[in-house]
Amino acid sequence: MNRIFSGIQPTGNLHLGNYLGAIRNWVKLQRDYECIFCIVDLHAITMPQEPAALRKATREVTAAYIACGIDPVACTIFNQSTVSGHAELGWTLGCYAPLGWLNRMTQFKEKAGKQRDNAGLGLYAYPVLMAADILLYKATHVPVGEDQKQHLELARDIAGAFNHRYGVEFFPLPEPQIFGAATRVMSLRDGTKKMSKSEPSEQSRINLTDDADTIASKIRKAKTDPHPLPDSVAGLEGRPEAENLLGIYAALTDKTLEAVVAEFAGAQFSTFKGALADMAVAVLSPITAEMNRLMADPGAIDAILRDGAEKANAIAKPNLRQVYETIGFLAP
Ligand code: TYM
Repeated sequence: MNRIFSGIQPTGNLHLGNYLGAIRNWVKLQRDYECIFCIVDLHAITMPQEPAALRKATREVTAAYIACGIDPVACTIFNQSTVSGHAELGWTLGCYAPLGWLNRMTQFKEKAGKQRDNAGLGLYAYPVLMAADILLYKATHVPVGEDQKQHLELARDIAGAFNHRYGVEFFPLPEPQIFGAATRVMSLRDGTKKMSKSEPSEQSRINLTDDADTIASKIRKAKTDPHPLPDSVAGLEGRPEAENLLGIYAALTDKTLEAVVAEFAGAQFSTFKGALADMAVAVLSPITAEMNRLMADPGAIDAILRDGAEKANAIAKPNLRQVYETIGFLAP
């Protein structure tokens, strides 16, 4: 059986990168896989979080999943901290992950920055917890944006190390699913930087909570270069802003980058930005409206998370038990 696991951190606002790199693909995949979509609150606390803001963001990410088209009945939606197996398997797998593997993780280096000694152990161990998230369910496929590729390679290595250590085929090696025209959405202010929740400038990203005017204004002000749009994908070489905006348009319309380049060949940025703003508003406005509707009833969101936790625990508990038996932990 093919099973998907993926997740998003409830930190700050969800943005277009989260939507195009992850959730939009999940919506397409949910028909063909058994899907588990998590709100990874244990990951969120690797950076400081205000309790009230964390609670709100957890409900907001849940609302976004549903508003984007994830079916909470067919899929499992829950917040990570309600299934204790994540933390337990996270600890366990840490004992099979050499420091050398973790030292290669570029995201830790970026997030810890120069203050490495002040970074928390949690931030460092984060990729092991991510491996545990996936392996706890023996997930076979993991749809994510490009930035998570290295973490997924580590998850495969850890799964392999555990299997090898005990001579078992217990954990499947999870396959990354990184697809679509916008696997790495870049900042609207700088086409060489990833669109991110942690970037201080609001102008750098489109949030799923932005209204139509804000979306249009952010796109109008997005950084560009002085040339008309090229007539081939090769012409995007060295033009990161053009490539990013055309990629966003392609992903929003489910077209290939080639098709969108052909459509706007020779156009001025102003013309293209008008079309992009219209498309972004057409796709995102109904999602924002539905998120707002869902957020007005936090009790209903909590009920979905409760159901999801029950379904997730039903898979996680026996799997963790088997891991413990394999290792040699005595059952109570
Ligand atoms: P997070 O919360 O940073 O991002 C959630 C998802 O959005 C994708 N994404 C992007 N895609 C394209 N362009 C961007 N600019 C962009 N920014 C973010 C991410 O690739 C991700 O798919 N470690 C993960 C959460 C996680 C997880 C897991 C994912 C924890 N456990 C297990 C999969 C499986 C993270 O921090 O994602």
